Amino acid sequence: MKSDRLMVAGNWKMHTNYAEGKALAQQIVELLQPTQVKVIFGSPYIQLNAISAVIKDISNLHLAAQNVHQDVKGAFTGEISAGMLQSVGVEYVIVGHSERRAYFNETDDLIYEKVKRVIEHNMRPIFCCGERIEVRDANEHQELVADQIKTALFDLSADHFRHCVVAYEPVWAIGTGHTATPAQAQEMHAHLRRLISERYGEEIANNTTILYGGSVKPNNAKELFAQPDVDGGLVGGASLKARDFVDIINSFS
Ligand code: PGA
Repeated sequence: MKSDRLMVAGNWKMHTNYAEGKALAQQIVELLQPTQVKVIFGSPYIQLNAISAVIKDISNLHLAAQNVHQDVKGAFTGEISAGMLQSVGVEYVIVGHSERRAYFNETDDLIYEKVKRVIEHNMRPIFCCGERIEVRDANEHQELVADQIKTALFDLSADHFRHCVVAYEPVWAIGTGHTATPAQAQEMHAHLRRLISERYGEEIANNTTILYGGSVKPNNAKELFAQPDVDGGLVGGASLKARDFVDIINSFS
């Protein structure tokens, strides 16, 4: 049922320092009314621990990291493992964001490895997929997104796939102010749910949260979230303002 799938995830990217991140989390907690929507705090690594303390014991609030290394441990200077994230209370990890694909050469094969590490450590991946504008202009967006999810997720067992959240984020909509129309979002979300159903069956498809990301704002969230297969949003820019983020969470009718 859609009501069990609702989620709004903030992705703070590389914007908040320790004090700013902690203050932002506190402001969101103060403004937020009790909600059935799962609310995810996608914080930079450096303040995960502090945010964990702020949201601890409040139901439906969860901590997310924005990336993870694909190996369990080893000589990878500067990297962070799934076990490290789990040890500070992280429950979700964003994997395969288009910025990681574009600037850090992440491929769907690598993303599959990261997804497995996340699930093995009892956390949930928020897997991002989505096409660039040239691909949509060539009308190949459905094919491309199908390739992405098949390579990055569909070798998982059903028991593992159950833990995945999918985020459709058209690259042309991220940080640009050009949101996908509700119809464009619904079309792709229905396509993704159909692919999941073909691979894992209807029960799992109906329980999978599929988020839309790309310039979600308080003034467009209501219409996007009203679409039958849009279960919420992965929010970048607007998640940095507590009032806007809470207004987006309150956009479910
Ligand atoms: P945006 O970012 O809301 O600023 O477009 C979304 C994202 O990158 O997850």
